[in-house]
Amino acid sequence: MRDCDCISLLQWALPRLHMQWRGYRKVRGQVCKRIQRRMRELAITDVALYRAYLDHHADEWLLLRDLCRITISRFWRDKGAYLSLGNDVLPVLARQATQRSDDSLRVWSVGCASGEEPYSITLLWELKLRDRFPSLKLHVLATDIDNVLLARAKVACYGRGSLKDLPVEWRDIAFDHIDNAYCLRQRFKIGITFQHHDVRDPPPGAQFDLILCRNLVFTYFDEEQQRAVVGHLINALVSDGALMLGSHEQLPIDERRLKVWPVLPCFFTPQERLRT
Ligand SMILES: C[S@@+](CC[C@H](N)C(=O)[O-])C[C@H]1O[C@@H](n2cnc3c(N)ncnc32)[C@H](O)[C@@H]1O
Repeated sequence: MRDCDCISLLQWALPRLHMQWRGYRKVRGQVCKRIQRRMRELAITDVALYRAYLDHHADEWLLLRDLCRITISRFWRDKGAYLSLGNDVLPVLARQATQRSDDSLRVWSVGCASGEEPYSITLLWELKLRDRFPSLKLHVLATDIDNVLLARAKVACYGRGSLKDLPVEWRDIAFDHIDNAYCLRQRFKIGITFQHHDVRDPPPGAQFDLILCRNLVFTYFDEEQQRAVVGHLINALVSDGALMLGSHEQLPIDERRLKVWPVLPCFFTPQERLRT
């Protein structure tokens, strides 16, 4: 399949899946390869024929949606975001939780891939913040729609590339280097629950001090679906909690309930509850 054929297929199909082409422009390679493999399985040689197949097989759309999932992640992705979390956001949220006499700080990592994001949070807490907030325990709920990734997350062994942004001294403290893999030591797995969950569904119950929703909804979903998810996420935040997006992501333009928190462009909090 030529690149231009894959682009035109994606530009036609993605809006029908409530996804947006913009998010896929740079990462389409892996999706195109998967679609090509699928077309081979079906003995379909031409993109036009695959479109016709989609027109006549409603189930194929579910499969195509899965093929369009981007699963790239790594520890400390967007280093600046983790510096802000460690220096500013998590200490403020921890102080607020302490003032409420809570005994835990609750974080939800949405679309957690193989655990790189939620484990980055536990490392930050264990190695930088825990001693400052001895009365608080960190609880991280890490959810993803992909059970294969969740199983990998529980094993928590990674290639060197997944750790390239993590400070080397933290890598050496937190991981055992076994053969070619870096495996997270047990003490850094404590406090994390991995759970299957589709972010388009209502949230998994609890109220969270911090929700990380990065490089998923606000990159790949269309605006209608983004607005629906924002509603779910805000309902799952405590009154002075924070929502963190990816560093290149923005909320839908007409989403007025949220305010930048306090000055960092990728952190938001419910406007009507904003502390001054
Ligand atoms: C690009 S990765 C981002 C991982 C991590 N948040 C980060 O920023 O590094 C997107 C993740 O979202 C997951 N995902 C895709 N659709 C989802 C959905 N509807 N509900 C929950 N997770 C989903 C994918 O399986 C993948 O692990």
